[in-house]
Amino acid sequence: MPDQEDHSGTNAAPAYITTPIYYVNDKPHIGHAYTTTICDVWARAKRFEGRDVFFLTGTDEHGVKVEKSAKERGMEPQALADENAAEFQKVMGLFNLSNDDFIRTTDPRHEEQVRRFVKRLHDQGDIYLGEFEGWYDEGQEEYHTETKAKELDYKSPISQRPLVRATETNYYFRLSAYQERLEKFLAENPDFVRPEARRNEILGRLREGLLDVPVTRTNFSWGIPFPGDEEHVIYVWIDALMNYATALGMADPDSSERARYWPASYHVIGKEILWFHAVIWPALLMALDLPQPRCVYAHSFWISEGQKMSKSLGNFIDLEQLQGYMDTYGRDALRFFLASQGPLGATDSDFSRSQFHETYNTDLVNTLGNCASRTSAMIGKYCEGACPTDTGEDAGGAEEWAQFTAAQMDASLAAMDRFDLSGSIAAAMAIVRKVDAFINETAPFKLAKDPDNAVTVGNILYRCAEAVRIASCLLEAVMPARMNDLRVAWNLGEPSGNIREECTWGRLNPGTEIEKVALFPRVEFTESE
Ligand code: MSP
Repeated sequence: MPDQEDHSGTNAAPAYITTPIYYVNDKPHIGHAYTTTICDVWARAKRFEGRDVFFLTGTDEHGVKVEKSAKERGMEPQALADENAAEFQKVMGLFNLSNDDFIRTTDPRHEEQVRRFVKRLHDQGDIYLGEFEGWYDEGQEEYHTETKAKELDYKSPISQRPLVRATETNYYFRLSAYQERLEKFLAENPDFVRPEARRNEILGRLREGLLDVPVTRTNFSWGIPFPGDEEHVIYVWIDALMNYATALGMADPDSSERARYWPASYHVIGKEILWFHAVIWPALLMALDLPQPRCVYAHSFWISEGQKMSKSLGNFIDLEQLQGYMDTYGRDALRFFLASQGPLGATDSDFSRSQFHETYNTDLVNTLGNCASRTSAMIGKYCEGACPTDTGEDAGGAEEWAQFTAAQMDASLAAMDRFDLSGSIAAAMAIVRKVDAFINETAPFKLAKDPDNAVTVGNILYRCAEAVRIASCLLEAVMPARMNDLRVAWNLGEPSGNIREECTWGRLNPGTEIEKVALFPRVEFTESE
């Protein structure tokens, strides 16, 4: 299990998480926002644990697709890249993303290091000049083996366009030489590719045998020139994968402050680009003698209102629509929906307006929001707005609550370690649901009618407030702004950087001023914008 050894909540071991770098020939949409948001949740969660985190995202700017799109628009590729990279950077602000860097493959620091890596591989014989004939998917810029091409009926699995028989004189990476090492590595590291279903796909494909892969092109020029033979430009995928290393200065780790973050705890990607990350990238790292990432996590896809998103249907959930959701429900509600309902497993998830509304109402308005406001309202009414003291007596006692919240915290943090975001959220929400049930069972609002019950009412309300506080700490990575509102209203102070300590039962001080909060306002459901 990745990161298990660091799950103490007290050490500052470095952690590194990355998103794919996004192509600048497209506008950002929910898919890009999703991957980046879930990485942000993990990065924040680890910072709350006290870890020294580096969270990287960025844009993939070279290649024939960008060159073509730019030509169609009568622009220079760099101008198109600048324009669209800015669109992707907008996502960061819009979703409140806490990335530590935004790498662009046209950054000189990246280009320079890619050339050094490639030169090293060439000098040591891992890259050679050769001729190759194979089945080529022009849209994906990818070759397939004969077996695979036959299985695909000689059509691209993505665009359905015919695969073409292509011959090229190019520089090749000796991927075939890494077959055995890769098989061994994957066998010894069952958590390297997750989820399990995706790992099995990779193992199956590996068994078909590996071909050497071209790492340069000569049919276009928008790319990094191959060192020593500038007729060739470095293939966009090789250039792109290396971003994970160049951002940390790994071509010269001894003089890079960021080298301590290597290797990544998680490379989070969508399922369609798993082969590059689970096979080609590890082989390149083996050749470069760099340690392997702990896990490549390939999530599935969002579909839109039951349908696959496609250009022809024009049904991409774009930034404008996402902005609409944020305006209506709030940014944190959107983050919560993405993190709790997203396609982290092996199946796709449907992004539908009705499902969004339902999740918002059930989890945020009626559960978390309601519990926080009921608890603070009762403390306002029966305890003059000051957190009561828990004498430890009465049913559903402090001891039981302390044990329950500690168990939920363990479950929530362990799920976060495994990148099981919905599991982590569910464990925190279970605390809130128990508070809800506890209020209904013990009915402090009835007990409060008799002044003789003051101690009991205080005990109940302390437990409610303390449990809500602990749940909110566990949800802070998902909903930083709303949970901070609660922090402020309940005078909880700044996050301590030690989540385990913060979630310890009893940290809420009696006498603390507890103000009433309304975290998630009710929203009328509308079919469309
Ligand atoms: N540039 C390459 C990645 C290079 S990484 C070294 C690329 N870029 S992309 O712009 O096409 O982004 C692909 C990524 O966007 C996916 O891997 C995934 O993270 C995200 N998504 C795109 N569509 C998606 C959905 N419909 N649903 C969820 N995420 C998807 O590929």
